Amino acid sequence: MNTIYNITLFLHSWNRWLILVAGIVVIASAIIGLSAKSEYSPFQKKWALIYLSSLHLQLLVGLIMYFFLSPFTAQAMSNFGAAMKDSVLRFWAVEHAFVNVIAIALAQTGSILVKRKTDSNSKHKRTLIYTGIALFLILSMVPWGMMGVARPLFRF
Ligand code: HEM
Repeated sequence: MNTIYNITLFLHSWNRWLILVAGIVVIASAIIGLSAKSEYSPFQKKWALIYLSSLHLQLLVGLIMYFFLSPFTAQAMSNFGAAMKDSVLRFWAVEHAFVNVIAIALAQTGSILVKRKTDSNSKHKRTLIYTGIALFLILSMVPWGMMGVARPLFRF
């Protein structure tokens, strides 16, 4: 059980970098596309897919840890009322999970809405809005230390 937890934590920790890199590539190419008035390109389509797939993987691994592996969420679920008064337990049990689920749902919605548009300008705009908001929410909930919870940037 413990090794599975270590593997999921490792995967979840490193996949965060893929999400951030892909998110930045998607946002930067939408800005370039908008200002250059260029076509929505296969490059953009590919990176949008990488971004969304990495988010889905993060959600899956996150949910597995949340419900089965993490000692933090297990402790929180054993006494939710008390956990709400503990900022670390509350971060893992509520803030991190809840805000990230919303961010991933937004990214997924954005991807569907971008596909529905036929003109490149609207595709760039929708990509920028949905990816931008989702990435902002995700960045605010990564345990960088800002919310009183710090984890290694690179887990080995
Ligand atoms: C894009 C979204 C997400 C990012 C970038 C992200 C990032 C992270 C990072 C960096 C860690 C610390 C890993 C470490 O200690 O090395 C972590 C831990 C964790 N995350 Fe996420 N996460 C995301 C979404 C989610 C979601 C949606 C859930 C659950 C529904 C979740 C549940 C957890 C849990 C349970 C832990 C481990 C707490 C522990 O036992 O130490 N995460 N996450």
